Amino acid sequence: MASCKAPCCVLLFYFFVCFACQCIATGVDADQTLLLVNASESSGRLIPETLFGLFFEEINHAGAGGLWAELVSNRGFEAGGPNTPSNIDPWSIIGDESSLSVSTDRSSLFERNKIALQMEVLCDISGANICPSGGVGIYNPGYWGMNIEQGKTYKVVLYVRSSGPINVSVSLTDSSGLQKLAADDIIASASDVSDWKKVELLLEAKGTNHNSRLQLTTTRKGVIWFDQVSVMPSDTYKGHGFRSDLFQKLADLKPRFVRFPGGCFVEGEWLRNAFRWKETVGPWEERPGHFGDVWMYWTDDGLGYFEFLQLTEDLGALPIWVFNNGISHQDQVDTTAVLPFVQEALDSIQFARGPPDSKWGSLRATMGHPEPFDLRYIALGNEDCGKKNYRGNYLKFYDAINRAYPDIKIISNCDASNRPLDHPADFYDFHIYTSANDMFSKRSKFDNVPRKGPKAFVSEYAVTGNDAGKGSFLAALAEAGFLIGLEKNSDVVEMVSYAPLFVNANDRRWNPDAIVFNSSHLYATPSYLVQRFFAESSGATILKTTLTNNSNSLIASAISWKNPEDSKNYIRIKVVNFGSITVNLKISVGELEKSSIQISGSNMTVFTSTNLMDENSFSEPRKLEPKPGPLEGAGEEMDVKLPPHSLTSFDLLKGPSSNIRMGGTDSFSRSSI
Ligand code: AHR
Repeated sequence: MASCKAPCCVLLFYFFVCFACQCIATGVDADQTLLLVNASESSGRLIPETLFGLFFEEINHAGAGGLWAELVSNRGFEAGGPNTPSNIDPWSIIGDESSLSVSTDRSSLFERNKIALQMEVLCDISGANICPSGGVGIYNPGYWGMNIEQGKTYKVVLYVRSSGPINVSVSLTDSSGLQKLAADDIIASASDVSDWKKVELLLEAKGTNHNSRLQLTTTRKGVIWFDQVSVMPSDTYKGHGFRSDLFQKLADLKPRFVRFPGGCFVEGEWLRNAFRWKETVGPWEERPGHFGDVWMYWTDDGLGYFEFLQLTEDLGALPIWVFNNGISHQDQVDTTAVLPFVQEALDSIQFARGPPDSKWGSLRATMGHPEPFDLRYIALGNEDCGKKNYRGNYLKFYDAINRAYPDIKIISNCDASNRPLDHPADFYDFHIYTSANDMFSKRSKFDNVPRKGPKAFVSEYAVTGNDAGKGSFLAALAEAGFLIGLEKNSDVVEMVSYAPLFVNANDRRWNPDAIVFNSSHLYATPSYLVQRFFAESSGATILKTTLTNNSNSLIASAISWKNPEDSKNYIRIKVVNFGSITVNLKISVGELEKSSIQISGSNMTVFTSTNLMDENSFSEPRKLEPKPGPLEGAGEEMDVKLPPHSLTSFDLLKGPSSNIRMGGTDSFSRSSI
């Protein structure tokens, strides 16, 4: 012990002298808060290209009735189950028992989804039982109303069959059916429709209504079958089926990966209801759809495995495919019997990246994507680590995937932040849902985790519970602190995504969420808005920062990055003040290496709220919003005020040193010399 004393004193003395020197050099009072930024890229560290991404789960109608733009819900009449008679909800009947009888049977053209709708029309255009002038039939309100907008076109596809000639009106109407926004007729002879016939119509809307419905009506007696009825807006992203406003919201975050399709959705409450990729690929008409028994709703699986891969590609992101490894919430496949599940996983990889002449790669090619998708990551299971068969099943999957595709990185469900894994993995999955204070305290969670071994994938994080409401500012601020902590630890944390991403306000299964929408509108919660501050971090350089006199309510980071839009170089300093008093912060940027901070082109953005529990809403979608503005006095030395409870970013434009202000007249002079 005695031998250690002298070096310790020397160290302490050295620290004191250094700190005092910094204070003198920067002209800061001993009790003033100081942030030193070492702008030298060579002493910084590259942030992984993949750091910030998205987690898309089919929860809250994120996909069906959300990002997937299909307007018809239960388009194949399969949601009521494979036995007939069955529930056709949300389809409803226009007419009454004297005019119409509707039932389901198993006469569909499609083998994997045998249910079709049979409509027996009892009334007619003349005679004793005359149909109402608007006709009788069925309607579908979509997902809490269809958004039909004037001037836009909608592609209707349906399959129809009849024992006689038909004259069916296909219309998009308001929710009462009285106002027609767009309509066309299907008129066919008996021979035309004696077998199933595919009909395609393009309807142009003459009016706007956010709560519309699709009607199939007739005034002619007869028996008509319908199946696989679809209405797609023509303005989906690149025609790929993604609702364009929701897609744009994702693109704005510049995500580097998309983890999909769950979450618990992947597991299922029971394995028989888990997501099975092979049931979600191929022509949409042939997909059986399935009931997601964790979040308790039916999906037609228009947004299937192929579409998820397409989504990631369209976003310029990498897919992270979460695969069920034989474990649901309630049941598990024994490891001795898991090999068929392993084969499913191998087939899914071949579907994504096998050559177009391979068995599954050829299906991808027929779906319009002969080139392979860039699948590099597979997560085995979701939150299943402690379960009896997890390790055994995991190893079977790991060995088989690793043998066939050695470059694929495999993500384990088991947390290696506290103790090493007992199985091989490239990443370990880390989920955190907690209170605001705890989330902020977790900013240092990864400071001391092992630097060797699998990297961390923080694939689900969010403040939840009372602190969060349906998306409070407080929750977002704590998350901002946590994210800065992750950014600083991005040598061990390679990927991070918020959860959940979307909520259709008509079916909130989970609070809070990043993006709230209904049929026609959307708004971002503060947790989404915080993520915008990190959109440029992936692939940037994290710079060394030192925060002194830290009251424990501050955390800061700095990155150096090049903006591809203007090809200019910036330093972005982000600071969270989680405390309730204003902080006077002196920022000192050193080691600029032949460059300097340009006043023009530098700016700052402040995100704060006087009421921590404030939320955005449909009526006030921008109540909470980061406020950008010029950065007065941008330079190597800056005195700034951090409002209580705030996230502030300072974007400093770097330029050649000759551009900086010269002379000893102000605080910029020192660094210019
Ligand atoms: O994000 C919501 C759910 O939280 C996910 O499905 C699950 O992984 C976690 O428990």
